[in-house]
Amino acid sequence: MAKIPTSRVDRLLSSMGYGSRTEMARMAKAGGITLDAADLVDVTRRIPVTPDLPKRMEIDGEPLDPVAGMVILLNKPLGMTCSHKEIGPRVYDILPARWKRRDPVISTIGRLDKQTSGLLLLTDDGDLLHRVISPRRHVKKTYRARLARPLKGTEGDLFASGQLMLEGEEKPLAPAGLEVASETEALLSVTEGRYHQVRRMFAATGNHVEELHRERLGGLTLPDELAPGQWKLLSDEEISLIFQ
Ligand code: URA
Repeated sequence: MAKIPTSRVDRLLSSMGYGSRTEMARMAKAGGITLDAADLVDVTRRIPVTPDLPKRMEIDGEPLDPVAGMVILLNKPLGMTCSHKEIGPRVYDILPARWKRRDPVISTIGRLDKQTSGLLLLTDDGDLLHRVISPRRHVKKTYRARLARPLKGTEGDLFASGQLMLEGEEKPLAPAGLEVASETEALLSVTEGRYHQVRRMFAATGNHVEELHRERLGGLTLPDELAPGQWKLLSDEEISLIFQ
């Protein structure tokens, strides 16, 4: 059985972005921290860090944030970047502000372009992140693309061939699946994550992607009820769907 990690309360809360250890001590003294409905005054106390802690601990009357090991499913809106470094609106701005101070940090699992919307995962679990993006896992990503020009009818075979070489690259793309939705709309499923891959694949056929939206990742589908900019935490069951 895996060993349950323990942490000092002040270290734990500080690593979750609530404030410095001194601030946590002050908050506890003022009655701002409860565990199992009782005031927790001694923040040097070590407690087991279990996933049910947010149900048992309150900070300033609010349930504790999720402990490390979370996976967030976001419906990424257009116009936001996935990079920690870029200037301008970033997907991290959608999440609670203190989550920017968490350690381990929350990162996106792969990236979507600024002008791509849809299913985006974020996590603070580095192992999971690497498993999802590892080319060896072949996790399928499905995009809905609206195109500037009608499809020719030959794109499906080309994308499935495993022979398509993108400009400036030395290795052909792995086979990808195309499902035509209309003359100018298609669903494209890829297992790689090359730079601007979907846009470049259609560009290689003489077309141009006008709108791009990710609908699926592995066995996970973006729920209809999750509007652009909304997010939810995934359960363990939902996380395992990624690899199906
Ligand atoms: N392919 C692209 O071209 N852009 C994305 O954001 C994702 C895949």
